[in-house]
Amino acid sequence: MLVQASGRVQYRPVGPATRRGRRVPWGTFALMRYIEVSGVRMSVIGLGTWQFGSREWGYGRDYVEHESQRIVARALDLGINLIDTAELYGFGRSERAVGQAVGDRRSQAFLATKLLPVLPVDPVVHQRARGSARRLGVDRIDLYQAHGPNPVFPPGLLFAAFGRLQREGLVTHIGVSNYSLPRWQAAERALGGPVLSNQVQYSLVDRRPDRDLVGWAQEHDRLIIAYSPLGQGLLSGRYTPGHRPGGMRAMRPLFLPDNLERASGLLDALRDVASSHGATPAQIALAWLVHRPNVVVIPGASSVEQLESNAAAGDLVLTDDEHAHLSGASDDFHPQTGWQTVPSLLRARIPA
Ligand SMILES: NC(=O)c1ccc[n+]([C@@H]2O[C@H](COP(=O)([O-])OP(=O)(O)OC[C@H]3O[C@@H](n4cnc5c(N)ncnc54)[C@H](OP(=O)(O)O)[C@@H]3O)[C@@H](O)[C@H]2O)c1
Repeated sequence: MLVQASGRVQYRPVGPATRRGRRVPWGTFALMRYIEVSGVRMSVIGLGTWQFGSREWGYGRDYVEHESQRIVARALDLGINLIDTAELYGFGRSERAVGQAVGDRRSQAFLATKLLPVLPVDPVVHQRARGSARRLGVDRIDLYQAHGPNPVFPPGLLFAAFGRLQREGLVTHIGVSNYSLPRWQAAERALGGPVLSNQVQYSLVDRRPDRDLVGWAQEHDRLIIAYSPLGQGLLSGRYTPGHRPGGMRAMRPLFLPDNLERASGLLDALRDVASSHGATPAQIALAWLVHRPNVVVIPGASSVEQLESNAAAGDLVLTDDEHAHLSGASDDFHPQTGWQTVPSLLRARIPA
């Protein structure tokens, strides 16, 4: 169910922003949109914080110590309540940075973190949950997610421990991440209650959740949390075969020169739609996702400006034609994957 925001939030768009397809001038009011799923109210645009404290993104010390704090503060100003982190990100540094930045604005945030369920037995799960809560500076985690399925152990072990965390009040909602639909359903049976959300890779460059997860979430009042909604920055259109990102993205198949070349049709479609809204390709890529009921996005941001731009995308409404045009361009994008990419990845490692 779609609900209107309870109040308008003032923000300063960093680029031309649009509301309901109309251009709005700098410094005006815009709406953050919220959805309500299983009684939980969430901003359709959330904030991902893998970047905080993780060396693999290569954003440096000032980003980790200062910009991360400004990003979270600005997110809360703009009405973003969903903030996603994980014990794994920077080995706890991301959780600490989020906790420090949220501070006494706790009531404005819906804090989601994740457990890597390597050994999903009750005492370990409890110890890890307490560690996450401590780093976040909270006595209750709003959404505790399994970072991925553990195929070695039956789901009953982990979800029995999760159930106890809920009953004891350390955790309010349970979620999963990177779960197939059968695994998500099995998790619900093992918990004996709703597993609120499944956090999955979902964007114009990865449409797998369209197969069954999104429809099931819509039918059963559950939530899809789309991670890497900007294809890790590819959908901003700023990267080309001659201008590739550094850090771990340089070694990701998606950012290989061949694949960046293949993405040009999709990026052109994004630019087309963006120009008719006075928006950016990244904003359109997010709007394409949150066009769907029961889907929220958690883009990461390398600056406050990006965060502001992403927040403004929640207010964009695409026409059905624009939506279909983008979906068609996405269908036509066939990146090289798997073993095919090995020679190119090796070439990318060797300096010219
Ligand atoms: N559950 C899981 O297994 C899992 C896996 C991955 C991620 N996640 C979560 O999902 C979050 C988001 O995914 P992600 O960080 O992988 O990918 P993403 O959100 O698709 O991409 C984030 C990157 O895109 C660029 N960007 C962001 N906003 C932009 C804008 N307005 N204009 C232009 N460029 C922009 C920035 O990189 P540059 O400026 O450097 O280009 C930023 O670091 C993570 O932070 C994490 O919380 C979860």
